[in-house]
Amino acid sequence: MPKKIGVLTGGGDTSALNATLKGIALKAEELGFELVGFMEGWKGVLKGGRYFTLTPDQIDENYGGTLLKSSRTNLIAMNKLDEAIQNLKKLDISGLIPIGGDDTLTVGTALSEQFTTVFVTKTIDNDVGINPPEGDAVDYSKMVNYFCPGFPTAASRIISAVRDLRTTAYSHDRVIVVEAMGRDAGWLTLAAAYGHADLIVVPEVPYQPDRLAEAIREKHAERGDVIVVVSEGIRNDDGELMITSRAELDAFGHTKPGGCSEIIVEAMKKRLPHISGSAFRALILGYLQRCGSPTPLDRDSAIKAGSLAVRALADGMVNGVATITRTDTGIAPTLLPLEQVLKRDATGRVIRRSLDLRFYDAERYQMSAAGAGYFRPLFGDLPRRSLPLDERDISICEIV
Ligand code: F6P
Repeated sequence: MPKKIGVLTGGGDTSALNATLKGIALKAEELGFELVGFMEGWKGVLKGGRYFTLTPDQIDENYGGTLLKSSRTNLIAMNKLDEAIQNLKKLDISGLIPIGGDDTLTVGTALSEQFTTVFVTKTIDNDVGINPPEGDAVDYSKMVNYFCPGFPTAASRIISAVRDLRTTAYSHDRVIVVEAMGRDAGWLTLAAAYGHADLIVVPEVPYQPDRLAEAIREKHAERGDVIVVVSEGIRNDDGELMITSRAELDAFGHTKPGGCSEIIVEAMKKRLPHISGSAFRALILGYLQRCGSPTPLDRDSAIKAGSLAVRALADGMVNGVATITRTDTGIAPTLLPLEQVLKRDATGRVIRRSLDLRFYDAERYQMSAAGAGYFRPLFGDLPRRSLPLDERDISICEIV
């Protein structure tokens, strides 16, 4: 009888999930494993959960989302870990590959104490892994999980949205506040520097309306149009999320962020009355950051990470994580023991990785040189921005 292994995808989807599934299915086929795909994340391994034999031909690695569908099911809160393990054993599954971010992995690490589990990370937020060791010189090769599959595509979506918005912002001298995802971490927001965001506001630094207003005032005086990119998860000095809708909690107890761009626009209109109120706009990018096809780099890394997880199960690794390492020559998937990748707090919850603040220049609301160094293998050098009108070879006359 062939060895049977299982896979599931949990949490918010990304564009690279099917690519990870493809890597898993291809390697499983090569090694003669039967692969069972559980549907809708952790829900799929509970009573009533659905599953099917997953083969490589069923999966299109260039198509976003996840063929297996996803959910934010919290087996710990439901007290259903034992039921899940019994069901996996009943189906003769000898090893499980959960693909997920911090929440899915929080459940997975609890399960891994009793069941063979190898993880592949995914999250557009890029908050699973460990930052490079402290010090002035940043050694990117020492980052645990240089990026999470799904992040490069979502970051590229933000970059092109901001780059495109620049044209209409210029035409109408608008001040556009763009809201990017990333519940607690500023990685996605920081990438907007490649779209020439004027000001970048990340959740790791408390939001200070007066300071931001002053920065907008300066940029507006320089060029006329201003694009501010803010992370949905920014907090004020009291550590409170800035949300417009009534607070909603997900299955893991997180308050769902949303709407801070609208709050900021109102606050800025009050502080900057010399700029016409109609110039201000808030724009929530929402799921446009998480949908559609993966970028080739994201897709290929995700395929490799998936394949590595199956290799680990074949080699008898009990609890590991397939991560991405940055090397001198590029990017390589690397298998690491669980405890090296996922630090947990006293309650067992996986600790999220914040944006490394060496990558951010909080004074200027901009990416720092170390940040550009982080992004270089993903997006190359920072593209040059067009000159402001008064610095171009155009002489403008005035009717008197
Ligand atoms: O964790 C990934 C993420 O995309 C966050 O950036 C965002 O806050 C959240 O998921 C949105 O969750 P939902 O899928 O429940 O709308």
